Amino acid sequence: MKFFVDTAEIEAIRDLAATGLLDGVTTNPSLIAKSGRDFKEVTAEICGIVDGPVSAEVVALDHATMMKEAEVLRKIADNVCIKVPLTVDGLKTCKALSSEGTMVNVTLCFSANQALLAAKAGASFISPFVGRHDDNGFDGMDLIEDIRLIYDNYNFATEILVASVRHTTHVLQAAKIGADVMTAPPKVIHDLFKHVLTDKGIEGFMADWAKTGQSIL
Ligand code: E4P
Repeated sequence: MKFFVDTAEIEAIRDLAATGLLDGVTTNPSLIAKSGRDFKEVTAEICGIVDGPVSAEVVALDHATMMKEAEVLRKIADNVCIKVPLTVDGLKTCKALSSEGTMVNVTLCFSANQALLAAKAGASFISPFVGRHDDNGFDGMDLIEDIRLIYDNYNFATEILVASVRHTTHVLQAAKIGADVMTAPPKVIHDLFKHVLTDKGIEGFMADWAKTGQSIL
């Protein structure tokens, strides 16, 4: 399972990239606004930190302008992945860009039928938002299961990118279902490393090691 971080905060990205476990980055207009940075500048900086896909989202709502925005964004770096919303114009844009060999992430997916359309439009990634699904009284993981089934039925190459991840249980469930990628805020990724018994175990080993009076170096 690939791990993407869902942020436009440079230090958080550098920090996670240093673990060697980071496969890509997703951003959205809200995350760019939160960073307070210039969109193109910060995207270029992120693309220089990670080798994997960096999703940069168009903000136009019509196909023609989305194409123009995508043209600007994809020139930033080879690893820019154009993010488009799951609308008719978004999927038209997805089809046109993917036909030219450009990576596309279709975002704001809330149904398996929408995911089917995105795959038919040649999306590299489909982003179902599990957290927002849960918030609205649905089970986000049911959606991931349905998409996995449909994509496997037809051997679609589109990767399932589980988005709007809120906690480590989402990551575990997505991995059990066989999602290809998950994108989560830095805190959730850091939480994956933690276990109270790991901390307790280290504490015990350190205390006993101190009693030996030895040193490895
Ligand atoms: C994914 O690409 C989105 O940027 C993100 O996961 C949205 O998450 P949120 O629902 O926490 O805003």
